[in-house]
Amino acid sequence: MKTMTQGDTRVAHLPTGSYYSPSGEYDEMHRRSIEDPEGFWAEQARSLDWMKPWDKVLDWKAPYARWFVGGKLNLSYQCLDRHMKTEVKNKVAFYWEGELGDSQVLTYAELYRLTNNYAAALKRLGVKRGDKVALYLPMIPALPIFMLACARIGAIFTVVFSAFSGQALADRVEDVEAKVIVTATGMHRRGKILPLKDNAVEAASKCPCVEKIIVVKHTGHHVEMDPARDVWLSDILAECDEYVAPEEMDANDPLFVLYTSGSTGKPKGILHGTGGYSLWIAKTLQWAFKTDAQTVWWCTADIGWITGHSYVVYAPLELGLTSVMYEGAPDYPGIDRWWQIIAKYGVTTFYTSPTAIRMFMRHGEEWPAKHDLSSLKMLGSVGEPINPEAWLWYYRNIGHERISISDTWWQTETGGFMISPTPGIQAHPLKPGSATKPMPGVDVAVLDADGKELPNGQTGFIVIRKPWPGMLLDIYRNPELYEKTYWSRFPGYYLPGDYCMKDQDNFLWLLGRADEVIKVAGHRISTAELESAIVGHSAVAEAAACSRPDEVKGEAIILFVTLRKGTTPSVEIKNELTRHLRATIGTLATPEEIFFVNLLPKTRSGKIMRRLLKAVATGATIGDTSTLDDGASVDEAKAAFAELTDSAHHYKTSEKKPDIK
Ligand code: WTA
Repeated sequence: MKTMTQGDTRVAHLPTGSYYSPSGEYDEMHRRSIEDPEGFWAEQARSLDWMKPWDKVLDWKAPYARWFVGGKLNLSYQCLDRHMKTEVKNKVAFYWEGELGDSQVLTYAELYRLTNNYAAALKRLGVKRGDKVALYLPMIPALPIFMLACARIGAIFTVVFSAFSGQALADRVEDVEAKVIVTATGMHRRGKILPLKDNAVEAASKCPCVEKIIVVKHTGHHVEMDPARDVWLSDILAECDEYVAPEEMDANDPLFVLYTSGSTGKPKGILHGTGGYSLWIAKTLQWAFKTDAQTVWWCTADIGWITGHSYVVYAPLELGLTSVMYEGAPDYPGIDRWWQIIAKYGVTTFYTSPTAIRMFMRHGEEWPAKHDLSSLKMLGSVGEPINPEAWLWYYRNIGHERISISDTWWQTETGGFMISPTPGIQAHPLKPGSATKPMPGVDVAVLDADGKELPNGQTGFIVIRKPWPGMLLDIYRNPELYEKTYWSRFPGYYLPGDYCMKDQDNFLWLLGRADEVIKVAGHRISTAELESAIVGHSAVAEAAACSRPDEVKGEAIILFVTLRKGTTPSVEIKNELTRHLRATIGTLATPEEIFFVNLLPKTRSGKIMRRLLKAVATGATIGDTSTLDDGASVDEAKAAFAELTDSAHHYKTSEKKPDIK
């Protein structure tokens, strides 16, 4: 097990002003949700607009949960149509700001009109209910509009993060069998233009399933268009100014597939449904951030990740909130760009990642101090454990010691927040670095390796003992992997794959991944995925990936590589391998350091001794790796360690700004 570096020290101190007196409302609501989930969720689900009511609240045949069975609804209707009958109609849905300083204001009425037009455009190109569409777009309004349009016509979409390479896009397009790729000419990033359309063409040429590429004109540069395959969005929209009736979707119809990293070399397609998901994300946003009609919400996540799906696009629109959406890098053109945006739009509720906070912390408190942040009422954090130092910096320098922070723990698979303070239910005591308590409906336990519940104060595996409405439906076309990954180790319980400790006050401390998943600046990537990409290079014989703690990014990627005969370690080959990883996966796969070694340390049974790799990567000694969990003897490990350290040539990548999620 990983050592608990943060948990011991960070439990004790509480900043002044972070206490609120608990009243028991949360405890009562949580108790009810666990004792009578069906009654509780039936009551909550009345807040949605159902086209047909459900016959049964929950059908639970482990490991498959189907919520609101028989119910019909449409998520684009929840987000748009029903607001057309209220004053939300003329409210701002999105204040969008481009990296270059250009901006656009979209009201709910305008978003409704555009969603209908985009839905008509998809239909005109032959996209039907159940067809798959890949969305490979930057953070521009077209992305949420296409997500809404797909939901409207019942097309299943997969959003592919725009920093993924053409090859990574092709892998996802092929797996999901997308008929259409939607992309843009390019995207702006720190003053440069990244060629999205070229990557989409690369993917389409590798995937015969792709019939059309829709291209959004965003950057001004010239792109080649193949008239048989490529269409400009603007051309097709010119013919599509019409209303499209929302499809009646079953509560358990798939809404989207989102690829994420796990223990295998290939990312897995997390499949989310319609009814339970819509309810879960809207309720959890209200509970964790106490949103109301005056909220100006800014979730800085890219829509290419689950955080953006649930909390940039759907939940805020369901709740009729006004949101800010920003295209570019947080530190471009100046390190205070985000604080400027908060002041400009009067953001009340700001939700970001620990990596971003640590990056700003490094630059100094004078940057946020230059701007009027008095509109802020709530702060949030997501994606990785937040260390108490960063929490306190955020609390003091952004929240000015007067507002609450919701540290939300959750995953692509969970659809929405699972553990977080819930000031929307009642004012909450906080501890810097703890995600505090489970959401209503979330039944958490901490288990040891044998599945026994651990007493408070001890670190073990977090499990969820009951299904919740936002739970994934399946892994796309791979139910065996779904059952094996999440349900086999502790049968009947969902296994998230994180370490956790419940303290004496029943506060939960999420202590990082318990598996081979690395979190680089909040981006999820697995060692298996990195290894399978790097061995695809002809110079590489074998490779192993691990991570090292990083002061800003949380974790950094370290690679161990044995080269084929005839290739010797050099800076050139290191650069070449880095380029290869970027082309195969994307920039987020950039290793911090590559060690070239003669042999990877393995046990007699052929298992890589990952602890030794970690020891070398972090500069630790063999003594620190005494708890080998790979069955190697101490002598075997010592010999392998000596060989490893003797033979290693290592090369660092020049320091790059973290690509904030
Ligand atoms: C980690 C992101 C500690 C965790 C929403 C989880 C966190 C993985 C937190 C999921 C948090 C996310 N505190 N760790 N507040 N939030 N994590 O699927 O390891 O990209 O399993 O979803 O991020 O990453 P994913």
